[in-house]
Amino acid sequence: MAQKIAIVGSGLIGQNWSMIFASKGYKVSVYDVDEGQLTRAEKHIAMTLTQYETEGFLRGEISATEQTKLVSFTSSLEECLAGAIYAQECVPENLELKKKVFSQIDKIIDGSTIVASSSSCLPSSSFTENLKNKNNMLVAHPINPPYFVPLVELVPAPWTRREVLATVRELMERVGQSPVTLSRESLGFALNRIQYAAINECWNMYQSGLLSAEDIDKVCYDGLGPRYAFIGPLQTMHLNADGIVDYCKRYADGAYNVQKETFKPIPVQYDVETAQKIQAEYDASIPLDKIPDKRKWRDARLANLAKMKKQLEDKNS
Ligand SMILES: NC(=O)c1ccc[n+]([C@@H]2O[C@H](COP(=O)([O-])OP(=O)(O)OC[C@H]3O[C@@H](n4cnc5c(N)ncnc54)[C@H](O)[C@@H]3O)[C@@H](O)[C@H]2O)c1
Repeated sequence: MAQKIAIVGSGLIGQNWSMIFASKGYKVSVYDVDEGQLTRAEKHIAMTLTQYETEGFLRGEISATEQTKLVSFTSSLEECLAGAIYAQECVPENLELKKKVFSQIDKIIDGSTIVASSSSCLPSSSFTENLKNKNNMLVAHPINPPYFVPLVELVPAPWTRREVLATVRELMERVGQSPVTLSRESLGFALNRIQYAAINECWNMYQSGLLSAEDIDKVCYDGLGPRYAFIGPLQTMHLNADGIVDYCKRYADGAYNVQKETFKPIPVQYDVETAQKIQAEYDASIPLDKIPDKRKWRDARLANLAKMKKQLEDKNS
């Protein structure tokens, strides 16, 4: 019989997780405090799965209709959690709310349910410390849109059991996500630490008038981006010489000098004046009222990239 997954919060991220778990045949129960939102989520998931099937983006081997049938909706947290092997919390990023919801979940579950938070920034130690099931709780941070961007950052609190981390990692792999495991809590987890390092240099280059905003973006999407869609920066070092040790022998001094000469002190404040200048440059290409269309454009391209990467993997396996 299909195992059950509980989704707590039916917004953007809760809907994505629901579709991801249903794609691999899990029964999914979705809970929300807002009944109107639950109805919207139900309609949106059914419509999205059908649309993805038509466009060739549907994940998993079962049809959109079968996947839709696997997802049910409830305004009872008890019903949502009953018999679930795993619960993914997806309520807004607010410490008091996470504390409240985790405490409610803690009172309902027994020791066999693992509970992960989708939290983007808040570490789970800040809202699970006093709970009886805290050893089974952690952060599993998805990247937007999770249906097409598979990374999940698994971040344990100091009291999260190692076996729990391993179980969640296995579950994420089974449903086609791409988990990484941090050994401990770290502000920004991993992705945002890398992302902010990149943004800082973009900001500094723009501020010093070295390149336009559009050209800085191009350096990423037509330069580093294509490469990083398949191999990371460390593997790039390994492949761009005869191994990473050889790379360091050849290029470490150069890299060090670039940093010494050009990098500015951190942290960088993203000041309003620079932000306004960048926005003025985007006014022609992406004016504010066109942002929703551009988001759709981006997500469609991410969907195609995810599909292509899956096809390449299938061909190589
Ligand atoms: N949106 C993103 O890009 C993104 C990416 C990664 C992680 N996250 C994280 O995922 C979490 C959810 O974000 P989202 O973008 O889906 O938010 P959202 O606002 O779209 O959805 C939140 C949902 O939670 C519901 N909710 C509020 N209080 C609740 C309660 N007490 N019990 C149950 N449901 C409740 C709301 O009705 C709403 O449907 C946040 O922690 C966020 O930081 C978001």
